[in-house]
Amino acid sequence: MPAMATTVSTAVLKSVPLFASFPDEQLRTLVTVVTRRSAPRGSIIMAAGDPTDSLYLVISGRLKVMMGDADGKEVILSILGPGEFFGEMGLIDDSPRSASVVTIEPCELLSLARRDFKKCLAENFEMTMTVMRGLVRRLREADRKIGSLALLDVYGRVARLLMDMAENVDGQKMVTKRLPKQDIAKMVGASREMVSRVMKDLQMGGYIEMRGSSIVLRDTILLAD
Ligand code: CMP
Repeated sequence: MPAMATTVSTAVLKSVPLFASFPDEQLRTLVTVVTRRSAPRGSIIMAAGDPTDSLYLVISGRLKVMMGDADGKEVILSILGPGEFFGEMGLIDDSPRSASVVTIEPCELLSLARRDFKKCLAENFEMTMTVMRGLVRRLREADRKIGSLALLDVYGRVARLLMDMAENVDGQKMVTKRLPKQDIAKMVGASREMVSRVMKDLQMGGYIEMRGSSIVLRDTILLAD
């Protein structure tokens, strides 16, 4: 990964959900083994098939978890943000990386080497549970995605994705983070052109409203799920 490695404070470690349950003494030990790095937008943090060495935690910025083929076709499996971790799968089953992870915004990341990750898991049951909860959440999301791909048309898939990505802002459901149509297409398994048509239809039908770079979801789309 490009960029300089820097040291980390116990306060930063405490702000990461994975380490929230660590007593101060353990945090002080962790400070000596965790590395902090900055990565500009578009950095490949790991590529599918790479050998596995470390766990990564996101302090700030967003990344996409993706798979691609030799022709440059891509599918986005997930978008990760602050507080989340990645790279645990290869560490748990001693396998190469299952997917590629690329920054879509400048990111601040922490990394923890395999040996230290396993030591933390062995010494901290709450951390083990947090990792397991993360894996279960990903499995649930993957099940939901398989269901969407098999059972919904592109309208339904786009609508469901928008609902999954929406946040509550002043009582309104909104997608506030930048979400290019190209990325929506890669997340729902459709062409960019098809996604543009679907978004336009959703807008015309009053299901969504574009407000600057945000997408406001109307009650009609929420009821249609
Ligand atoms: P690992 O296989 O070590 O390297 C790629 C990482 O991407 C993987 O660990 C997970 O942390 C993450 N990842 C893989 N698939 C998904 C998914 N469907 N949703 C979220 N994250 C994933």
